[in-house]
Amino acid sequence: MSSQTKVPRGLYGVSVTDSSIAKSDAAGTLIYRGYPIADIAAHAGFEETAYLVLNGSLPDRKELEAFSGALRRRTRADARLYQLMRELGVRAHPIDALRTAVSALASIDDEKGVPDQQASIEAKMSVLAANCHRVPRGEPHLQPKPELGFAASMLQMLTRETTGEYDRWVFERVLIMYMEHDLNASSFTVRVVASTLADPYAAASAGLSALKGPLHGGANESAMELLLEVKDPDKAAAYVTKALAEGKKVPGFGHRIYKKFDPRAQLCKGYLQEMLKRRNKDDSLYRLCARLEEEMAERKGLPANLDFYAAPIFYTLGIPIPLYTPIFAASRTFGWMAHYNEQVAENKLIRPDATYVGPVDMKYVPLAER
Ligand code: COA
Repeated sequence: MSSQTKVPRGLYGVSVTDSSIAKSDAAGTLIYRGYPIADIAAHAGFEETAYLVLNGSLPDRKELEAFSGALRRRTRADARLYQLMRELGVRAHPIDALRTAVSALASIDDEKGVPDQQASIEAKMSVLAANCHRVPRGEPHLQPKPELGFAASMLQMLTRETTGEYDRWVFERVLIMYMEHDLNASSFTVRVVASTLADPYAAASAGLSALKGPLHGGANESAMELLLEVKDPDKAAAYVTKALAEGKKVPGFGHRIYKKFDPRAQLCKGYLQEMLKRRNKDDSLYRLCARLEEEMAERKGLPANLDFYAAPIFYTLGIPIPLYTPIFAASRTFGWMAHYNEQVAENKLIRPDATYVGPVDMKYVPLAER
């Protein structure tokens, strides 16, 4: 008799652990440690949110300064990490270059103890992410300006320009929204690795691997490619008709949890509209997004997700498309580390079972007789 519990494919709707970090639900709400995402996005800074996600409560001034200072001190990355990225060469996918650097960090970092190792990974991820596209292509690496803070320093490296206050504010909001999303595929991956008691470097590089896929973090880049392909808002309906008829998944739509709307996408939609307005720019990119959203809702009942609206925001900021998923990774690292800590605090090795459906009683035939 089997004692197995069968669960739906993709663990659809299955709760596999208790967690007090974040919660998203079908009705379209998202909370970080109990605080609604709309409140956090409206009022909190990146480091403040990261502290909340990692520690479970909002920091006071002293705590925030200590936390931010610990990140600032660890931001610069060792030249050997850039050398490694450079050696990968022009064919390297940016996420692969980033993962290689994070993995190598395990061997060269001088940090002792998990909290300091995590701070080192969190701080360096932003700089390595900003450099993971240019360095393998032979361009010199960019240096951060840690004194600007995590988001502004990263944006300055990504755009190589001085951006306006509203742009910086919006970029920071998008990072905040990318930071944490309960048991998404990469955070679950991180928990599996943490449950073996492997170090945070191993967990972060595994998280990066899971994030790379187009069904997860890779969707923001695919969404921008789609927007550039369709271009004209009046062509949105025809595009959706064709894509659905061909059985294609339209990037930036659908979600495992949000079935009606993704609160982060709706906030970003507003930011995009305002950014274009402040630039006195033609708003066709916004109108294209809105038309695609309407078409997908009408025909398939699927909402736009965060990736769908983060992509045109990054595009408007002038960030190269291959950096969209690395940006997501740099922010999600804080969420990953929160999951790492929660997993280890009450650890039980994650080792599920599979229902074997293969052949049995096979008789071995020696190689020479086959
Ligand atoms: N475009 C077209 N159809 C989609 C779709 C999309 N983006 N997302 C889901 N669907 C369809 C599925 O084909 C399925 O249709 P069916 O019932 O006719 O077979 C239905 O909607 C349910 O989708 P399902 O695959 O069960 O949802 P899921 O929870 O397993 O998958 C995603 C969620 C995110 C993987 C999926 O929506 C997707 O691939 N989206 C595009 C990639 C993306 O934006 N990822 C980022 C997520 S934040």
